[in-house]
Amino acid sequence: MLNKNKSVARSFFITTMGCQMNEYDSDFLAQSLIQSGLLPVDDPGRADLILINTCTVREKPEQKAFSLFGRMARIKRRKPDLILGVVGCLAQQMGEGVIKRFPQLDFVMGPRELGRIQEILEQIYSGRTKIVATGLEEPPPQPTACRGYFKGRVTSFISIMEGCNNFCSYCIVPYVRGREISRSPEEILIEAGNLIAEGVKEITLLGQNVNSYRWNEEENGDFVSLLKKLNKLGGLLRLRFTTSHPKDLSDGLIECFADLDKLCPHIHLPFQAGSNPVLKRMKRGYTREEYVERIAKLRQVKPDIAITSDVMVGFPGESKDDFEMTLDLIKRVQFDGLFSFKYSDRKGTLADKMGNKVGETEKSFRLSILQDLQKQITLKKNKNLEGKRMDVLIEGYSKKEGQLKGRTGSNKIVNLICDTIKIGSLVNVIIKQGFLNSLRGELT
Ligand code: 5AD
Ligand code: SF4
Repeated sequence: MLNKNKSVARSFFITTMGCQMNEYDSDFLAQSLIQSGLLPVDDPGRADLILINTCTVREKPEQKAFSLFGRMARIKRRKPDLILGVVGCLAQQMGEGVIKRFPQLDFVMGPRELGRIQEILEQIYSGRTKIVATGLEEPPPQPTACRGYFKGRVTSFISIMEGCNNFCSYCIVPYVRGREISRSPEEILIEAGNLIAEGVKEITLLGQNVNSYRWNEEENGDFVSLLKKLNKLGGLLRLRFTTSHPKDLSDGLIECFADLDKLCPHIHLPFQAGSNPVLKRMKRGYTREEYVERIAKLRQVKPDIAITSDVMVGFPGESKDDFEMTLDLIKRVQFDGLFSFKYSDRKGTLADKMGNKVGETEKSFRLSILQDLQKQITLKKNKNLEGKRMDVLIEGYSKKEGQLKGRTGSNKIVNLICDTIKIGSLVNVIIKQGFLNSLRGELT
């Protein structure tokens, strides 16, 4: 199909849904577009190119993406020269199907094809329409120098590995992000150096399963060695990583929380379910007892470590007793925070084909019980911090007027009133009040 009238895009707008990996990918795309001369704008109505970076891990973000495509398609009806692209995991999963459903879209590009953005735009400018780029063979693109893009940011991400080999039975990620592939320590250190040179103080290392990071067969090619190298970087104040898999959480990695001064005392360790038969059908590779043992070890090595997790309710065949086991695990571990979801079928996964699906009403009921329980725990934990002194990295302005917003090493949001400190500084704060989603602090 040819469309000879398509003009060259001069400005772009990217909207990002889903996880931190998508935020990282959107930054990569924005830098590529800026390097080829386009200007970012903060209103989609003023952009010549709109990219929607999508997520398909659960049904809810997928539905949100579809309604956004509808809204963007309406903008395009008013402005036919607008170039509309869908990128990310939903693009990978549906491929041409997205364009069939939303014919206003110009291209679809999966997460491993992002490095082709400039080439794809060239093809569109020269008259080709409807491009589908969903290969999974190539490694994800390597970011280039930042050239000022991250100036003004206090925190940033680095993707150290991508994809997943675990094939948990409910999960679409291995199908849309491909098999695990790690980046070289040299590339990662260069990227970290570039970010620090732009003023970034805190780096979060990203991967679907960071603790299976491995660079070749080199002796020092594992995740612990990488953390040790990054911990030595001058100018960096804080280091974090996400997401870890309980089955791969080695003693060596746990000990890093005591040994590495920049590594923040927080781990996000999804447990997904508290019942062994469910964990088995999820193909998670650990039991509840093994999970609890890893938590005990983490707390033994780093007593004040904050632990957050992901959990889902209503996995196929989850009985009331299974669900009780999940509640029991939550009470036992006392997580600092939990991301909780209703199980949703993802096409092509093993769980999609399982029988004994739990009804929507029952899933919603279980989710609300679970969330009520966790709210009590989170609030209690945050109230227990009242009167404690904590180091807070100031990230920016708070939503609360006249206040600054920062984070503790344990990843809790702190709002404080102060007009003498600068964004990007690490300050010692006394916690005055603990709420459900944040803390209120004062300078000591
Ligand atoms: N249904 C519900 N939640 C899911 N997650 C992943 N796949 C599904 C699914 N099919 C959740 C898991 C994972 C988080 C990113 O999303 O809890 O850790
Ligand atoms: Fe999905 Fe399991 Fe891989 Fe996590 S470890 S991305 S849940 S398959």
